[in-house]
Amino acid sequence: MSAQLDKAVNTLAYGGRLAADHPGFTDTAYRARRAVLADVAARYRPGQPVPDAPYSDEEHELWRTCTLALAERHARGACSAYLDGVDALALPGDHVPQLREVTALLQPITGFSYEPVPGLVSPSDFYGALRDGRFMSTQYIRHHSVPSYTPEPDVIHEVIGHANQLAVPSFAAIYRAVGDAVQRVHTDAAVQFLSRVFWFTIEFGVVREGGGLKAYGAGILSSFGELDAFADADVRPFDVVAMGTQPYDITKYQPVLFAAESVDALEQELTGFLSTYDDEAFTRLTSRRFAS
Ligand SMILES: [Fe+2]
Repeated sequence: MSAQLDKAVNTLAYGGRLAADHPGFTDTAYRARRAVLADVAARYRPGQPVPDAPYSDEEHELWRTCTLALAERHARGACSAYLDGVDALALPGDHVPQLREVTALLQPITGFSYEPVPGLVSPSDFYGALRDGRFMSTQYIRHHSVPSYTPEPDVIHEVIGHANQLAVPSFAAIYRAVGDAVQRVHTDAAVQFLSRVFWFTIEFGVVREGGGLKAYGAGILSSFGELDAFADADVRPFDVVAMGTQPYDITKYQPVLFAAESVDALEQELTGFLSTYDDEAFTRLTSRRFAS
């Protein structure tokens, strides 16, 4: 597994380790909370009830703060399909929902369920679970000193970002298509390409709507700092090969984004690409791009 792929998978799938520049790195109380919540996830066994995470009053307060700040920005910056998902899912604003609560709300809409993960999961496991309608989610919450942004996926990102997306049938179809596609590839390079396409669409995708630019990516929609900044990015036309070969830095607001012309066009183009993606398609697509 390459370093870049490792970095991408860390961001997408878990948040167990703290880097030295993490806002909670020197906060021993925060690190202890992370350990408690990781233990809860570690007790989970597939097929068993998802154990509840014992959130503190401060963690519920942080959820309330972020929920309010995000909702205000979603009204201006989120695409209409995502806002439909917000209405359909109706997440609680007053407490951090347990993953079993998220599943109870989401499963009747698009069939997806949430399962806890304490740490690293392989890209095959993370993306492969999507095929079965299972979303592997962290449970810890970002550090209170930087509520506007997290460089790793916390429960705010997983639930406000991804679950609201997963409540939209068009987006849920893309997640399942990613899960199908990852079963067909066997090289790190082909998985990395898929990870980058996922990053620039499901995580940081934007769409043209109503004469402006709106966000549908979970990474933007779960970060009020990113929501304030995304309109200033270098916005490029939707191009799967460009996305699959575009490096990114997870520790900064994203300077490059790719805009779909509509959510319907996004679903059509992306599921079409994913339905035939395999090792051979990866080689064909990337050799053509680098040869031109
Ligand atoms: Fe994510």
